[in-house]
Amino acid sequence: MSDFLSMYSVQHWLESCPQGYLTNTEFGHEPGQKEPEVILDNEVLLTETIRTTVQLVAGERCALAASSGLINAAPDEASKRFLATQTLDEARHVEIFTQRLYDLGVKKNDLEDVIKQYANPNLVKFAEVLLEKVDKKDFVAGVVGQNIVLEGMAFSVFEMMQAAMQEVNPKFARTLAGTIADERRHVGFGENRIGSLIREQPEKKAEIERMQKDMSYYMLATFADSFRNNPMAAEMDRLEAEAGLPRAKAQYQGVDLATMQPEDMERVLADTVLKEFKIRLGRIGIEYQTPRQP
Ligand SMILES: [Fe+2]
Ligand SMILES: [Fe+2]
Repeated sequence: MSDFLSMYSVQHWLESCPQGYLTNTEFGHEPGQKEPEVILDNEVLLTETIRTTVQLVAGERCALAASSGLINAAPDEASKRFLATQTLDEARHVEIFTQRLYDLGVKKNDLEDVIKQYANPNLVKFAEVLLEKVDKKDFVAGVVGQNIVLEGMAFSVFEMMQAAMQEVNPKFARTLAGTIADERRHVGFGENRIGSLIREQPEKKAEIERMQKDMSYYMLATFADSFRNNPMAAEMDRLEAEAGLPRAKAQYQGVDLATMQPEDMERVLADTVLKEFKIRLGRIGIEYQTPRQP
């Protein structure tokens, strides 16, 4: 337990995160960085960027509710303290992605309406499956749902977005880099803390496997909604052809996102996340369940 205590302590969090990779940032990016004009000036790109950012706010609100809700369900003091640091990370994620909505022109008074209008119903269901476990103070299922399933998904989505944004939007790429570093810590906690608890309570496995299968289905359905019929790629192609510019390269998982069709991107992302689930769940003694396909 001693490694666990130092790796997930408040002291470690202070040194690596607020005093480390977030030093001198403002809402997650360097002061003065702005969203690119091309997004702000183009109605299709702006709408789709707002839609994507709303999914991030919705996911992070769920993570905030789950990590804070699990503090009082945790069986040991070290886990409670770690979850307190995670709660602040998730509150920060909600705040920086909400700030991005304001940077994209959403009015403060319209925030909740915009979130309601654009939040993907499958992502809302995904969150409900997890928060049901948290509400029942089911620590083991809650941590698997939050720190392995939700954050495993978030981690891969953020990495793909960061690859796509690296050249075209340094502000958002920087915001994502800090978030990815946080999520890496959260996923690590899930794996390290839960393995021993599952060995002590093998009777919980079946219920947790069902939760993973349900959450995975809603995740795939969210990806399907986001990549299929998305006008963003076609609009980018049109703008680049008009300006005679080549698309900026975006390397992710050994492929160039810039030259890929949206359905291929969906497949690469889904494969990446499900492969990660399988590995991480295997490490804690949970058997990965293949979800049905949307
Ligand atoms: Fe988060
Ligand atoms: Fe997280």
